[in-house]
Formats: sequence, structure tokens, C-alpha cells
Amino acid sequence: MRPLEIGVIGAGMIGRKHIERILAHPDFELAGIADPERDVVAARYPGERVVADHRALLAEARPDAVIIASPNRAHAETGIDCARSGVHILVEKPVADTVEAAARLVEESRRAGIKTLVGHHRRHHRQVQVLRGLLGAGEIGRLVGVSVVWAVYKPEAYFEAGPWRREPGGGPILINLIHEIDLLRYLVGEIAAVGAMASNSQRGFAVEDTAAALLEFAEGALATVVASDSAVSPWSVEQGTGEVPDFPFSGESSYRFFGSLGALEFPDLVRWSQPGGPPSWNRAVLAQRLPAPTLDPYVAQLDHFRDVIRGEADSLQSVEDGTRTLIATLAVSEAAGTGARIDLRPRYEALAAGSAGFAG
Ligand SMILES: NC(=O)c1ccc[n+]([C@@H]2O[C@H](COP(=O)([O-])OP(=O)(O)OC[C@H]3O[C@@H](n4cnc5c(N)ncnc54)[C@H](O)[C@@H]3O)[C@@H](O)[C@H]2O)c1
Repeated sequence: MRPLEIGVIGAGMIGRKHIERILAHPDFELAGIADPERDVVAARYPGERVVADHRALLAEARPDAVIIASPNRAHAETGIDCARSGVHILVEKPVADTVEAAARLVEESRRAGIKTLVGHHRRHHRQVQVLRGLLGAGEIGRLVGVSVVWAVYKPEAYFEAGPWRREPGGGPILINLIHEIDLLRYLVGEIAAVGAMASNSQRGFAVEDTAAALLEFAEGALATVVASDSAVSPWSVEQGTGEVPDFPFSGESSYRFFGSLGALEFPDLVRWSQPGGPPSWNRAVLAQRLPAPTLDPYVAQLDHFRDVIRGEADSLQSVEDGTRTLIATLAVSEAAGTGARIDLRPRYEALAAGSAGFAG
């Protein structure tokens, strides 16, 4: 089978990770790169086609697919241009900067019939696939609740990279907690309602440094998620999986799933159960560690995108599904500001009704 021609739009921090993996992948050929910093990018990738504008890439290279790794505000309009050119897209998270823009992308992708995948790469971890299978098979009975922690310390240099990182929208809710929301939606099911509190008491920036969210799932289970970028701890999925060398491996679990018959920890996949009798707080709860190695989720994501493009797999996350993750995450931010409990179901219904649902 011929390799797929794929372009990369935006060659920044994550775009370069994708380029590296495309260049090493036997089933893809790099069709070219689009980035307004054309000369800088061309110097980094001698011999590759580098253009300043994604429209030139689409017209000149005519790729089968692209990865959109530009800043959030460019995702939707770039994706729409790709859809109109019949080019399949892997769009980095968040799918767009607003739900309205994401809804337009959903509509245009559907109209064009292109394949779409959102870059919530954690869905591709082996541990996640194993865990999802266990939860789906009722391994711990009926899911009662989930407790999630994402607590790391972002160094000063992180905030010096751009003033937007100190402003509303640049903090742990929209940058980091979105991954937890997406993973929980994938593992547990749709989030029906959210509540939240946020604090900036550690760093004193306009944006939050710490947030606590309450989630209610459609099936009735509840979750608490604490996310902070101003705490030193071993508890984050990045450290627990060791998915990238930038975040040193801790091997510690940061998710705990509680069911009517037992519990599961993630990502180190420890199963807790009470064999040989009905559940009771008077009986010992025993642990068993389940094997599931960490793999490079960005390579697994690329493998999956290849299968989706070739019609051999259904997308693990369409742009519509990515928009639901965005809806839930923005609602956490809103709930932290207003103190309200927000029912998400009317928002999902508006999305299903098309972008007009938001305008009206
Ligand atoms: N899935 C992940 O693990 C992950 C990790 C980091 C970032 N991201 C997402 O990837 C995207 C990029 O983040 P980053 O950290 O690489 O940012 P970055 O600032 O390092 O890089 C962005 C790049 O896009 C280029 N660019 C700007 N406007 C453009 C346009 N209109 N068309 C093409 N290129 C354009 C910039 O010149 C820059 O090279 C964001 O949406 C971010 O949320 C995902």
C-alpha cells in the first residue's frame, strides 16, 4: 500500500514532535510544513517543503491529510480550509478556542466527508485501552465515583514564555484539566453537569493556579478533580506513565475509580477486590497489579490516524466529540467564576443541532 502524504501545520513544540514521528513512520511521507516562521522552520528541516501559509501547502502539496498544530485560535479556520480541500485532519487539542468555532468545523467536516481525529493523545495509551475494557466489562461493578489529581509545579520559565500564560484561559483548567475531562469522558461516559472552584492564591496571577471540579456523569457516577500547577507532587498522568522524557517518571497513580465491587488505580493499573464473598467494609481488600506497558502515545495516535484514513478503524475522537470535551472544560471555568452548577445537556443538544444552535 502506498504511504500516506501528510502535512504539518504549525511547527512549534508539539508540531516538531509530530514531524519527528512522521519522518520515522513507514506508512507516512511528509508532504510539507506550513508555519508563518517559514525561514526558521526551513532551516531546521533542510530538503523539506516549507511554506508560510497552510493554504499554499494544501494547494501545492495536495496532501492526503494534515496535522494541525498551530495555536488554538487558528484550529477551526484551518480545519475548515482542509475540509473544503477534502483533506483529512488530526487537529491538536483543544479542537478550537471557542465552541462556536468548533461547531463550524464540525459542520464543515461533516459536509465534506473528511475523517477527523482530535489530538487528545492519552486515549491512545495501552493502559487507557486496558482500563476502558475493564470498566466497560463491569470489572469493579457499578461505577460509584472517581478521584483525580493533577498536581505539578510549573517553573518560572514556563510563565516567561508568554504573558498569556498568566491571563484567564492560559491556566491549568483550559491547558491541563481539559486532558482529565477528555480522559474521563472516554473512560466513563458523558459528563452531564459540572461545578467548580478556582484559586490564584499561590501565584497571584489573573489566571487560576489551582482548580477543583465536581463532575456528574450521565450514568450517575460522580468525580472530583483537583488540578494545580503550583504544587510539587508525583501525581499526574505525565509522571505516572512517563509518556515523554520532559516529565520524569514517577509510576504513581493519579486516578482512583471506585465501584460497587472493587476499585482500580490508573495509570499503574492496580485492581482492588474482595474475592470470595459479598462486598463488606469488614473484609480485606486485595490488590493485583495488571500488566500494560507505556508506549509512545503520539506514535500510537499516528498509527490510529493511518487506520482511520484508510477506512480500517473508526476515529477514537471526531471533532464533534472533541467539541464536547471543550464544552465541558469551558463550563468548569464558567462554574468556577459563577459558583453555579452547570447542566451540560442543553449545550450538547445545541451542538448536535449545528452551529446555528449557538447563534440562536
Ligand atoms: N497533545 C499534546 O500533547 C499537546 C501538547 C502541547 C500543545 N498542544 C496543542 O498544540 C497546539 C500548539 O501548541 P505548541 O505548544 O506547539 O505551540 P507553539 O507556540 O510552540 O507552536 C505553535 C507554532 O504554530 C505556528 N503558527 C502560528 N500561527 C500559525 C498559523 N496560522 N498556521 C500555521 N502555523 C502557525 C507558530 O509559528 C509556531 O511555530 C496548541 O493547540 C496546543 O494546545 C498539544
